[in-house]
Order: sequence, then C-alpha cells, then structure tokens
Amino acid sequence: MSSLLNELSAIARDAFAAEGLPPEFGFVQVSDRPDLAQFQCNGALPAAKQAKTNPRAVAEKIAARLRSNPLFAKVEIAGPGFINLDVADDVLTRRTATQAHDAQLGAPQDGKGKTAVIDFGGANVAKPMHVGHLRSSVIGDSLQRLFRANGWHVVSDVHLGDWGLQMGQLITEIGHRGIAPIYFDANFTGPYPKESPVTMDDLEEIYPAASAACKANPARLEEARKATADLQAGRPGYRALWEHFFAVSRFGLEREWGSLGIHFDLWKGEASVEPLIAPMIADLKARHITVESEGALVIPVERNTDKKEMPPLILVKSDGAVLYGTTDLATIVDRVKEQNPDLVLYVVDQRQHLHFEQVFRAAEKAGLNGKAHLEHAGFGTMNGPDGKPFKTRAGGVMKLYDLIAMMTAEAMTRLNEAGLAADYPPEERDDIAKKVGIGALKFADLSNQRQSDYIFDLQRFTRFEGKTGPYLQYAAVRIQSILRKAQEQGFAIGEPVIRSPEERKLVLQILALPDAMAAAEAKRAPNILAEYVFELAQTFSRFYAEHHIMSETDGSLRAARLGLCKLTLDVLTKVLDLLGIEVPARM
Ligand code: ARG
Repeated sequence: MSSLLNELSAIARDAFAAEGLPPEFGFVQVSDRPDLAQFQCNGALPAAKQAKTNPRAVAEKIAARLRSNPLFAKVEIAGPGFINLDVADDVLTRRTATQAHDAQLGAPQDGKGKTAVIDFGGANVAKPMHVGHLRSSVIGDSLQRLFRANGWHVVSDVHLGDWGLQMGQLITEIGHRGIAPIYFDANFTGPYPKESPVTMDDLEEIYPAASAACKANPARLEEARKATADLQAGRPGYRALWEHFFAVSRFGLEREWGSLGIHFDLWKGEASVEPLIAPMIADLKARHITVESEGALVIPVERNTDKKEMPPLILVKSDGAVLYGTTDLATIVDRVKEQNPDLVLYVVDQRQHLHFEQVFRAAEKAGLNGKAHLEHAGFGTMNGPDGKPFKTRAGGVMKLYDLIAMMTAEAMTRLNEAGLAADYPPEERDDIAKKVGIGALKFADLSNQRQSDYIFDLQRFTRFEGKTGPYLQYAAVRIQSILRKAQEQGFAIGEPVIRSPEERKLVLQILALPDAMAAAEAKRAPNILAEYVFELAQTFSRFYAEHHIMSETDGSLRAARLGLCKLTLDVLTKVLDLLGIEVPARM
C-alpha cells in the first residue's frame, strides 16, 4: 500500500508528464500552511523556469488536470504558482480504513528482499557498560525495529570489544593475584574447569586495577602486551580464561540490555573473526593492496578529492599486533560470507568517524564488501549540565545499571506527585515506574537529532507534560482506558468518519505514518518518529477536548469516534514500540 502522499505525487507527476513537462516536478508535500491547505505542489515554478514560460500559466494547466480527479476536494493556485491541495473526506476515510485493517498499519515495505546488518551496542568485555554505550544501544535498537517494520531482514550484532590489550591486562592481573594458577601452568593439558574463576563483579574490580598497574609500571604493560599476543596466538590456558571472561560478561550484559528491552541476534565480537585475519592479510598482500610502511602493514586509503589528511588503515603493527581496523575489516569479510547484506549500518559514536571512513575505503578498495553499502550512523554525546560527557556525582563514569535505577526512582516520584497508580499493588507500581523511567530515557535520547549532543536533564525527561516519553505513555494509557470503559458499557467501535476539522487533522496525521517511517529509515533518524508521535498525541488531545466520545448519544457517531480512538492508539503504540518504549496497561 502506497502512502497517500506518494499517491498524490504520482498523480501530480502524471499531470506534469501529460503537459510535456518533466514528471519529477510533480512532487507533492505536506503543506507548510495547514491553515490554507493539506498538501502543496510547488513544481510549476521550476518547471516554468526550465521551459522559459510563465509559472502561473503552468500551474493553471496542471491544476485543470488535477481538478478533473475526484480525489481532490480543492485545487487552488496561490502566489506565483504554488498549487494548494485538499483531499476529499471520503477518500481520507477510505484510506484510513485500509490502513487500520493492514497488519503493518501501512508501513512502507521497501525493505522486502533486502538484508541489513546493524552493528550496535559495542560494549567491551570485562568493562562495565556505561552511558557511552547507551546511545548506541537505544538508537541501534530503534533502527533495528524500524528496519524490520519496513520489511527488511535485519541481523543485529553486538560486536563486543573482546580482543584488545584489556584481555592481556586482565590475564596478567589474575596471574599476579594467583587466583587461578591452573590457567597459567604451561604443562597442564586440560580440560580446564567449567566454572569461571571470576564473576562479573570480580572483573569490574580487576580491570581498573590491572589498567592502573600497567599505567604505573612499564614492565607490567609489557607483560600485558605479551599475554595479549599469547592469547591471540592461541595459548590454551589464556584462551580458556578468555572464554570465561566472555561468558561472564555476556551474562551480565544480556541482563542489562534485556531490562531495557534490547536484544541482539548475534553475540559476536572482535575475537570471533580472528581465524579470518591471517588468510585475509595473505590475500590482500598477494593482490598488492597492502604496502609496508615503517615496519607496519597498511592499506593506503587517501583519494585526491580529500580535503583533509586521510591516514592509511593500519592492518599489522611493527610488533606484529593487529588492530581495531583489522578486526573490523575481517568482520566485513565474515558478514559478506554469512549474511551477504545489502547494507551494514554501524551505530557508533561520531568520534569514531575517521576509523570507519578508513575501514570502508579499505574494504571497497579491496572489494571485500560484496554488494553491501557500508555506512556509519554516528551520534553525539550525552552531556551533563556542565556540557561535558555525563558523569556520576562523584565524577566517575555512570554505569547503565545505576542510570536505570535513577530514572526509575525519579519516575516513581513523578507518579506520586501526579497521583498516578496510587492504589495499585506495589509490584505493579514498580513495574510502571520502571517502564516510565526507561521510556523517559529512551525518548529523551531518540527525540534529539542523532548527530547532536544533548544534556541529560532528569527533571525534564520525566515530566508528564511536554515532549517526553511519559507524556506519550500517559496519552496511550488514557486512550486504553476510554476503550476499556467503552467495552464495559458494550459500546460498538466503528470505522472512523470525518465530521469536524479536528477529526480531519487526526486522520491526516494517521495517514502520514508510512511517510514518517520511510523518512526515518532513509535518514536513519528515529527523531522523525519521535516528532511524528508527539504530534499525533497532540492532535488527538485536541480532538478529545473538542468532542464527546463516551457521552455522545448518537450511537453511530460514538462508534466512529471510538474507532478513531482505537486507530490512534494502535498507531501511537506502534510508533512507541519502534522507539523501544513500552506502554503500561494502566497508570
Ligand atoms: N567496542 C567499541 C567501543 O567501545 C565499539 C564497537 C563498534 N563496532 C564496530 N564494528 N567497530 O568503542
């Protein structure tokens, strides 16, 4: 099902073509003067300019053709040749009914037959997840939901950081502490214990200590480097320890992301592509794609169109170690082999942009990316009130877990202030507070333009008024409660009809859902969905204020209005779900 807006554009394109004008000028958009018209087509101006004629005359001819189409209730020319358009109410309601009965609610299915790998989350093994990984998780999860809804086959991959120096640091620190000597015994032939010698809490304590020891003592750093190299070369005891780090971390991370409603299809990491690295390098060498530079093996990626310096991608350092770029390149090889994707989307901090530019160029130069378009969807930082990256009160990096607890506590305060959920059972109140706290956090993040930084503001994010998650959750809960009461009273729910300007506005907003989903996909921009759903809730609120619903005595009118409530709720819930936000059953 094509969206109303797309259908209007198609009609206008035909009109331009029939007048011997380039069809692409028949582009229709939502009117920026909703007081004058619902839609507008501005193509007569550039078309006339190109044909060297009078724009008004062109607009007249196009308008005459559009007027013969019963779909339009109004076709008017404004100013120098803008064409203002209104669609007939019966067309709007017919389309609304079709959308209401479509299982996807009219979502554009442009992704059908295409595969996208979405790389997000990107936490690091043994280090606690912090708010720096929060944006990646929240934005990436929204994109995976959106792409799926638009018909894509999506494979999400957490791509854990599990292969760097931090592994060697952990191993040596554990060695020094003598916690698990068996893993260091070169004569031991296995099998190693199934039980991990360290817990996630242990790792969270051991890693900072290990990192500090390496900073303070160059010999310790050298030892950690050596252990990393031994691990990567496959030393069995180190490999067994690493398996434990990975399993313990995965367990903790899965729980944390799970509590945010975020799930990954693949739990791969940098280490998983290790077997692919040597053959990849051999192949690149044989094809003369790599060059030696100061003892290192690199892929030059600069282009003569570059305005800024573009350093080569380093594959192997002079000491033989491989780097972040090497594993990312091998991961492309792996993904092409396993998923053969049309798109690989990396939802990673904007500050890693140069890294991805280098990796993408190297992959394309070497022809490693198959049919995949490689794209970095970067994002800005979440800052504290001081404009610097968000920290705890003590000045440390805030852990995601603590952040969720803080949001939940604040949400509870807000519920209490508003007298909501007051006499519900305690478990239900806790559950509502958690949903509201997480909804507040996600919406605050996603409503910003992806690339911009934003300031964490607990008070503002959790308010029930304004452009917030809780406002939208409450809007949905309110409609749920209307529908519940209607059901209790045995009221029928019918197809929406348009009898008032508020109803017409609401219907138009509902019909714009496919366009919002398409635009959000095209720009990898959940904020377009956030904007859309906020406008929907406000439009509903005006409709609700102006009309009787439950108190309407005309049964068919009441049924039609209840139908509009139901459809609004379906759309609201769907878009909140695309943002990863849950709606409580009641508040
Ligand atoms: N682990 C990395 C970090 O914490 C992010 C990984 C992003 N994904 C990738 N394919 N490089 O910065």
